[in-house]
Amino acid sequence: MGSESIIEEKKQGQALHTEQIKGNSKKLFIESYGCQMNMNDSEIVAAILAKEGFNTTQNLEDADLVLVNTCSIREKAEQTIRKRLQKYNAVKKINPTMKVGVLGCMAERLKEKFLEEEKIVDLVVGPDAYRDLPNLVEEVEAGRNAVNVILSKEETYGDVSPVRLNSNGVSAFVSITRGCDNMCTFCVVPFTRGRERSRDPQSILEEIRSMQEQNFKEITLLGQNVDSYLWYGGGLKKDFKNASEIAKATAVDYAQLLDMCATEFPKMRFRFATSNPQDMSLDVIHTMAKHKNICKYIHLPVQSGSNNMLKAMNRQHTREEYMKLVDNIFKIIPEMALSQDMIAGFCGETEQDHQDTLALMEYVKYDFGFMFAYSERPGTLAAKKMKDDVPADVKKRRLQEIINLQQEHALYRTQQHLGKIEEVLIEGVSKKSDKHYKGRNTQNTVIIFPKEHYKIGDFVNIKVEDCTSATLIGTAVGYSDNN
Ligand code: SAH
Ligand code: F3S
Repeated sequence: MGSESIIEEKKQGQALHTEQIKGNSKKLFIESYGCQMNMNDSEIVAAILAKEGFNTTQNLEDADLVLVNTCSIREKAEQTIRKRLQKYNAVKKINPTMKVGVLGCMAERLKEKFLEEEKIVDLVVGPDAYRDLPNLVEEVEAGRNAVNVILSKEETYGDVSPVRLNSNGVSAFVSITRGCDNMCTFCVVPFTRGRERSRDPQSILEEIRSMQEQNFKEITLLGQNVDSYLWYGGGLKKDFKNASEIAKATAVDYAQLLDMCATEFPKMRFRFATSNPQDMSLDVIHTMAKHKNICKYIHLPVQSGSNNMLKAMNRQHTREEYMKLVDNIFKIIPEMALSQDMIAGFCGETEQDHQDTLALMEYVKYDFGFMFAYSERPGTLAAKKMKDDVPADVKKRRLQEIINLQQEHALYRTQQHLGKIEEVLIEGVSKKSDKHYKGRNTQNTVIIFPKEHYKIGDFVNIKVEDCTSATLIGTAVGYSDNN
C-alpha cells in the first residue's frame, strides 16, 4: 500500500544511471518523476542521447546537460519539480555551462511559458518529441533555447531500444500504448500525452526477446489504459473504425497480445498496468487464467464508489458494472489480487458519496491502494465546468478514512497468505537487512526472507510465516520449477 500510484512509485528525484559507453564524453544527468511510463521514457531518452555522445552521471555538478522528466498529475507533483529547478539554479553557480531541459507532462502543459517562468530552463520537450532531442540539444549547445511539444498520431518509440536506468537486472518496463482517449474530467493526461495509439506487437516481442537475452525475468507492459490496446497497422485508436476490412480482420487486441507474449516467453513473468474497468474484457481474464506466467494481479482504479461521482468524472461505467467485473474476476481467478486508485473530495462529493466509496472498498477488499485528495488541474473539464467545492479539511478527513480502511483490507489480504508456499522472484536485497532478500509473489505482495544460497533473479518457493499489512515474511523451501 502507498499514497502514490503504482505507476508513480519509481525512483523519485534520483540520478538515473547506467553502464558507461566508451568514447562518449558528454555527461547527462537525468532524473524522472511521476509514473512508470515516465521512467521508461527516460530510458528511451538516454538511448537517444547515448548515440549523441552522452554518458549518464550521478553528479549534478559535473553534468553538461540536466534533464528532468516531469509529472503534472497533481499540483503537488508540479511544485516538487519547481523546487528541483531551484536546486539546479544553485548548482549552475558552480557549473555555469550546464544546460537544463524539462521533459514530460509539465513540458507539454506549459510549453514556451516554461522558459519565461523558470529562467534556468533552456530546453522544453514534450513526451512525443524525444526523437528530436539531437537537434534540440545542438540548438541549446549553440546558446539558443529550444522547444518541441508537438503531440503525434504515430509516435510509439517502437524501434528505440531503451537504455535500462537504475535497473535491478531482473524486472523491466515495456511500453505498449501511449496517450489516453478517456477524458476523465479530473485528469490532465489526455492533454499532456495526446490521443491513444498502440505499438506494433512485433516490436514489443522483439524488445522482450532482447530483455530475455539480457537475463531479465519479469516484464511489466505499460500504458495509461493497456486493455484498450489495439494494433491494426498503426494510427490512432479512434480512427480504427475507418480502417480497411483486412486491417480490422487482422487486428490484435490486448488479450491476444498478452497471449502472444506469455506463449512466446514461457519463462518470463508478465505484469501490466493500468487497467481501465470499462475496457477490461473477460478475454483478458481468461488469458490470465490460461498462463501461469501472467501474474495474478490487476490494478483496477475506480476513483469513487458513487454513481454520481463516476458520472461527474466521466468514468464510463457504473458502480454496479464495476462490482460485476470484480465478481467475474474472482469467479475465474479466485486468488487474484486487486488494487485501486481513489480520489477523495471530487467536485460536489457528498458525505453519502464518500460512504459509497467506503462501502465499495468493503465489497472488494483491495490488496493495495493508491489514494489522493482531488487536485484541480488547469485545462481539464472539471476545472472549466465544475466547482472544487469540498473544503480542504473535509477532503483530508475523507482521504484519511479511505487510507485507514485500505490498511485494514491490506492486512486482511496479507493474512490470507500465511502458511502457504508461494513462488517468488528475487529482485534484490531487503532495504532493512542485508541478510534478507526481497521479492514479490504472483499477487505483487512483497516477501522478505533469509538469503541462504539463492541469488537475485532466482525463482524460489517461499513458505509464508508472518506478515504486516504491506509485507510477507517467510523462508525459502527450494527453487521453483520456473528456473
Ligand atoms: N490510466 C492512468 C491513470 C493515470 S493518473 C494509469 O495508468 O493509472 C493515476 C491516478 O492519479 C488516477 O487513477 C487518479 O486516481 C489520480 N489522479 C489523476 N488526476 C488527479 C487529480 N486531478 N487529482 C487527484 N488525483 C488524480
Ligand atoms: Fe486519466 Fe482517465 Fe486516462 S484517469 S489517464 S483520462 S483513463
